[in-house]
Amino acid sequence: MSSAAPVAVVDLAAQTRPDFPLLAQTACLGQPLIYLDHAATSQKPRQVLSALQHYYDHDNANVHRGAHQLSARATEGFEGARAKAAVFVGASSPNEIVFTRNASEAINLVARTWGEANLRPGDEVLLTVMEHHSNLVPWQLLSDRTGCVLRHAGLTDSGELDLDDLSSKITERTRLVSLVQVSNTLGCLNPIAAVAELAHAAGALLLVDACQSLPHLPVNVKQLGADFLVGSSHKLCGPTGMGFLWGREALLEAMPPFLGGGEMIQDVYLDHSSWAGLPHKFEAGTPAIGEAIGMGAALDYLSGLGLDRIHAWEQQLTSHLFARLQAIDGLTILGPTPQQQPDRAALAAFHVEGVHANDISALLDSSGICIRSGHHCTQPLHRHYGISSSARASLSFTTTLEEIDRFAEELQGSISFLREHS
Ligand code: ALA
Repeated sequence: MSSAAPVAVVDLAAQTRPDFPLLAQTACLGQPLIYLDHAATSQKPRQVLSALQHYYDHDNANVHRGAHQLSARATEGFEGARAKAAVFVGASSPNEIVFTRNASEAINLVARTWGEANLRPGDEVLLTVMEHHSNLVPWQLLSDRTGCVLRHAGLTDSGELDLDDLSSKITERTRLVSLVQVSNTLGCLNPIAAVAELAHAAGALLLVDACQSLPHLPVNVKQLGADFLVGSSHKLCGPTGMGFLWGREALLEAMPPFLGGGEMIQDVYLDHSSWAGLPHKFEAGTPAIGEAIGMGAALDYLSGLGLDRIHAWEQQLTSHLFARLQAIDGLTILGPTPQQQPDRAALAAFHVEGVHANDISALLDSSGICIRSGHHCTQPLHRHYGISSSARASLSFTTTLEEIDRFAEELQGSISFLREHS
């Protein structure tokens, strides 16, 4: 990112807010609602809502099976969404995009199919301590089944990936390195291309969890050097219940199916079956058709704004957020500052001396401000810092500088109140 020519900063909040009816509502006591929990789930522009509505109003039918016109249109919309996802991540072909319910299911798919077929006792899977539970637990289950060994790369003092530590933990037994591109808690952007080189030099594959990067910056699987990449629709302005796995075609071809049932077969006999080609081999049962079409509309929406423009605007928001939070006494932000890592994500997870994160978020909620508190599905990371929870404000291109100001003022007020009353 940083080597690219600078992109002009455009106020995308001003441009996009009319597209997000939810963000125009008032909260209790008539205060404007301020939504700063985009990393948990994004809001949906009316273009996505219209695509869903249009599909159910005009085209609803099952895909791939009917000879009738509705089925043909539903199939066209569904497969069109796959083609959009392929272009969005720079895949070689739509066949490399497998639709799943979410990114967790996509990682489980790789663990159950590639993992069980390829890993032997003593083989190693290298993760990091900043991983979301969805990139920890599937490998723990795989380790129980295969005897593979899990290792974890650590962090630098600034809360970034320690590449030296990661490098030292790659051995001749490493078969897979799997990590987030952007941490949902630290907000750091990991040097995926460098990790890919290290992994490939050792003969290992690389899986990238791109849930928190896809809505915020350009992502290209070839530039990253990834072998697998997973994404989640609801994090990128699309519907829930929808995600995808991208995998290199030769890898997907060689992997056994994940779930069995309709759609994923070629021929079924009473005692055996043969499998459909890619990507349907991995998609058992009637898929989430409307959701796929909605995700396609979300990808169109983000591409229309321009991922480089989104990133540039969010960098400005991030600097402002950090400046406001750093001025609050006793508040510690997890992860690198924008000075330490200019491309870091537009979120800040923090803890405040003597004040519980849940109390902060409850008080802010009563002022119409939605943030997340808890462990954000990164319990091991929180344990690494000796805390059980943090509060997190996560932004999007719809966020305004004024919203950040109001959040910071209300946060300061909440902390003072909680200190006085503890
Ligand atoms: N992984 C989501 C988050 O970070 C749910 O909040």
